[in-house]
Amino acid sequence: MGYKVAVVGATGNVGREMLDILAERAFPADEVVALASSRSLGQEVSFGDKILKVKALDTYDFSDTDICLMSAGGDASKEWSPRIGQQGCVVIDNSSAFRYDADVPLIVPEVNADAVVGFTKRNIIANPNCSTAQLVVALKPLHEAATIKRVVVSTYQSVSGAGKDAMDELFSQTRAVFTAGEVVTKKFTKRIAFNVIPHIDVFMEDGYTKEEWKMVAETKKMLDPKIKLTATAVRVPVFIGHAEAVNVEFERPLSPEEATEILRSAPGVLVIDKRENGGYMTPHEAAGEDATYISRIREDATVENGLNFWCVSDNLRKGAALNAVQIAEVLVNRKLLNKAKAAA
Ligand SMILES: NC(=O)c1ccc[n+]([C@@H]2O[C@H](COP(=O)([O-])OP(=O)(O)OC[C@H]3O[C@@H](n4cnc5c(N)ncnc54)[C@H](OP(=O)(O)O)[C@@H]3O)[C@@H](O)[C@H]2O)c1
Repeated sequence: MGYKVAVVGATGNVGREMLDILAERAFPADEVVALASSRSLGQEVSFGDKILKVKALDTYDFSDTDICLMSAGGDASKEWSPRIGQQGCVVIDNSSAFRYDADVPLIVPEVNADAVVGFTKRNIIANPNCSTAQLVVALKPLHEAATIKRVVVSTYQSVSGAGKDAMDELFSQTRAVFTAGEVVTKKFTKRIAFNVIPHIDVFMEDGYTKEEWKMVAETKKMLDPKIKLTATAVRVPVFIGHAEAVNVEFERPLSPEEATEILRSAPGVLVIDKRENGGYMTPHEAAGEDATYISRIREDATVENGLNFWCVSDNLRKGAALNAVQIAEVLVNRKLLNKAKAAA
């Protein structure tokens, strides 16, 4: 039996990627429905070799839909995800609206797939922030080997993480710089073309941004609450692909060679680390790929049991759409979907 799957936000960056990934991975769906706001009613989006006409979320009945991949922003999630869940449809929610709720599992399948069973309380499963998803995929096998004490991470995040309007802003600003036109800034707080901005999401009272806070809270929830993590999140003028410079302190010694071996056999990870010109991964090369790439693994001799590495992934895929589809696959493979209907 196949499932009925709805993709909400199907005209957006993440939603379009979700449709591609469902088709690429031959997700066992009898029917896939593309939903967005009423602004997009009737617009066409591709799903494999098919074209789907977009329907409006606010008039759609979810009662015979098994899985909803929700990717329409926090406000739409807050309003719709609980209602959709109450109709017996399991919502895999891409926003930050439910990630920190105790009765909503936050899942990266390579890290904590077993925690998915907690979804039946609200029929909602949260997908993490893009920068956290790739980070925990890399940290999990290292934590199992040598127990992480502290992580210091600096991110280099592409504009697609801020939605399709942000990609358009980088494009139009870049063109304006080359044609001596007016550089218009709307989505970002400062010019992003040929610049970097140390500010993602809103500021919090302690001076950190919400994006930085999310990396702390989500790593603790998914991996280990004892891990100390501090982050600086930076937007860079790259269209797709987030990079992270990661410094880790362990309880026990872990050499770069051992870490490399562990990461080479870790699920979802590919090590590209040649210690020569071009022997490392960049966001441009990771765009369109599924893996979390690790490069530049080396000792940090300034602390006891320290390592540095470079971590790159496609934020629209592992950071959002791919991870959501992988969660849906966990539900299917573990035969958990009928329980959702029964609980509703
Ligand atoms: N981009 C990333 O790397 C990333 C990573 C993790 C999580 N996320 C999260 O994923 C979500 C979507 O991000 P995105 O990058 O795809 O944004 P986007 O490109 O701006 O697309 C937003 C999508 O949501 C739809 N939408 C907005 N308001 C809606 C409403 N009230 N009802 C129904 N549909 C509505 C839009 O439909 P219309 O075209 O009709 O307006 C569009 O399809 C956000 O919550 C974001 O935080 C993104």
